[in-house]
Amino acid sequence: MIEVLDGKAGGPLPVWMMRQAGRYLPEYRETRKKAKGFLDLCYTPDLAVEVTLQPIRRFGFDASILFSDILVIPDAMGHGVRFVEGTGPVLDVLDDPSKVSELRTDVMEHLAPVIETVSRLRAELPEETTLIGFCGAPWTVATYMIAGRGTPDQAPARRFAYRHPVALGRLLHKLVDASVDYLVAQLRAGADCVQIFDTWGGNLPDDLFERAVVSPTQAIVRKVREQIPDARIIGFPRGAGPRYPGYIAETGVNAVGVDWTMPLRFARETVQAKAVVQGNLDPQVLVAGGDSLDRCVDAILAELSDGQFIFNLGHGIVPETPIAHVEQMLGRVRDFR
Ligand code: CP3
Repeated sequence: MIEVLDGKAGGPLPVWMMRQAGRYLPEYRETRKKAKGFLDLCYTPDLAVEVTLQPIRRFGFDASILFSDILVIPDAMGHGVRFVEGTGPVLDVLDDPSKVSELRTDVMEHLAPVIETVSRLRAELPEETTLIGFCGAPWTVATYMIAGRGTPDQAPARRFAYRHPVALGRLLHKLVDASVDYLVAQLRAGADCVQIFDTWGGNLPDDLFERAVVSPTQAIVRKVREQIPDARIIGFPRGAGPRYPGYIAETGVNAVGVDWTMPLRFARETVQAKAVVQGNLDPQVLVAGGDSLDRCVDAILAELSDGQFIFNLGHGIVPETPIAHVEQMLGRVRDFR
């Protein structure tokens, strides 16, 4: 996958899946029982290394993504995070702008176990398997900190952004600083590239997209490359549709993850010309399987495989996904090579 990120065309087509370590795998569910809670899994290198490697052993993906979560950053900043079985993440609620000043940005002591996981992974993975580090984009992380949980459209964070633009700016700044240290440490520990997950980046109007998505991501890319000039960075502003070309130009990312709602023709003509495209199978067709799965995989390959491309899902794999369908997808992609 490194070759594709470095702009070298002609090699085999790389494939991996967002959330490839997770509850759809019985071996993940087994290891998960050994940890007290989900965050303990993220902070225990023995267990985090094990679950990261599970999908590589089973499927031989071209890339391995560090097992952690985007919410370890608020946790390290002193903004309480818990994962409640069946509910998902529950965080302290950042409803008052004055709370922003209480957040710490010296996060690396707290995150040291995650960095140890990265070093151990690089040593244990096959040399040809790309190791991907990651963080959440400041806006997406802020949406969880403000609301205290995930909501269907992250309305509490959007309201906060309009009511308290200055406090939002200060919060995003702190998240940029913490994320830069975190990504630089991952790259120094052996990550071959990093992905910035902006799951909620697409649901904003122009001005906020610029201030909350583009500008903080641009700052992260610039500051990471001040320390590691050739750092390979993948952006994933999910749902940003027609804004992708501007996002790429302004942030300077090498590659972009695209979700399944992006028209393939737009991805090819307008996005792939500017950056590596990574995507974009609908995770729900991977649950459904059958001919529909084959047809969706073929359509993506037909449109995007001639250019700079990494096959992936358009968002994370869901727990209901049958393993046989992942094998079907992989067989199709690999036969195509
Ligand atoms: O991709 C991978 O295999 C690496 C690990 C990874 C996880 N989360 C593990 C996880 C990555 C890259 C993430 C990113 C993440 N986390 C995002 C951005 C990408 C996306 O999916 O939108 C977001 C928004 C989060 C926050 C988060 N973590 C939520 C909303 C949830 C609950 C929803 C759910 O799927 O349960 C989590 C929990 C989580 N993160 C799980 C895993 C495997 C499941 C928890 C469990 O095993 O109990």
